[in-house]
Amino acid sequence: MESGSDLFLRACRGERGSRTPVWLMRQAGRYLPDYREVRKQVDFLTLCRTPELAAQVSLQPIERLGVDAAILFSDILVPAPAMGLSLDFNPGPVVDPPVRSADDVDRLAVPEIEAEVPFVYETIRILRRELAGRVPLIGFAAAPFTLAAYLVEGEGSRTFGQWKRMLYAAPEIAHRLLDKTTQTTIRYVTSQVRAGAQAIQLFDTWGGLVSARDYEEFSLPYAKQVLSAVREEGAPTIYFALDAAHAAAAVATCGADVLGADWRTGLDEASRAFGGTFALQGNLDPCVLLSDAATVRRHTLAMLEDAAGLPGHIANLGHGILPETPLDNAIAFVETVKGYRG
Ligand code: CP3
Repeated sequence: MESGSDLFLRACRGERGSRTPVWLMRQAGRYLPDYREVRKQVDFLTLCRTPELAAQVSLQPIERLGVDAAILFSDILVPAPAMGLSLDFNPGPVVDPPVRSADDVDRLAVPEIEAEVPFVYETIRILRRELAGRVPLIGFAAAPFTLAAYLVEGEGSRTFGQWKRMLYAAPEIAHRLLDKTTQTTIRYVTSQVRAGAQAIQLFDTWGGLVSARDYEEFSLPYAKQVLSAVREEGAPTIYFALDAAHAAAAVATCGADVLGADWRTGLDEASRAFGGTFALQGNLDPCVLLSDAATVRRHTLAMLEDAAGLPGHIANLGHGILPETPLDNAIAFVETVKGYRG
């Protein structure tokens, strides 16, 4: 019997093992009673910055759900203070001061990231030791476009109007900022691999906010640079752009080993849009997990059947698990995948 470790890393290489591997985006979080216990003691950023605690919560979904991969406990905004901005969570990220002008961009540092966020690398080393090969460890970062979106906006937003205003009104400033988020992210994730991360996921949560043409100008070239640097470091890559089906042909050229798919498109159709050659990760609607175990099971089986003809499949949700998800439904999702023999 293959261990979770073999299943996940083999699927990243586009190989089909004895069953489909499974993990959940945002799998360490508030839907877990064990996570809520730890969060009673410390705030979210303190948790990210305390390696023993961050490692402890990364391990919770391995023990509670039996998923086939662990993911570093951190946040995509953790590099912001290293670039010279203040960061808080309330509960979403708040970056201060927001980056709005050429001078603001010039003031940003491309930091010696290992010295600035040593806790990230220490958490990875602890996790590799404690996982002892049971399942692989995924590291992650925001795609340069999505990191820049938060630095300019200063907080989460439905439209990211400030960021998009910069793209359209001052594209040269946006490109200078994207160069800096790219250089920072390359250092941030290649160091994660050197510390022990066995795969890297790049979250381009807001890459789909712009047209396919603007995606090709402002997100894709920068994501490509990061993915290629990780590949040179020897780790497989997963690239996830939310709500970006309109740009699928461009996304397919990003250079990742695995492409993420959200729930809006069936996995068979998503695969065709990407050209049919990629392993895919996804894509159950996280809201299905708000229903009941029988419904979760039915929708999960339909997703697995959609994936039958794919070169490789890593079962996951189509976006992060929601805090209000009943634990039993998350368990039903994982068990349905693990019991399926296509
Ligand atoms: O997957 C995992 O379990 C690893 C941990 C992880 C977190 N954030 C922890 C977190 C990962 C991979 C992220 C990525 C992240 N962070 C993304 C990309 C993925 C996505 O969801 O699109 C984004 C956009 C963020 C930014 C962010 N962080 C937001 C918008 C929020 C607030 C919204 C919310 O969920 O409350 C956060 C906070 C955050 N990041 C929490 C966790 C567990 C909740 C903090 C808490 O405990 O109060």
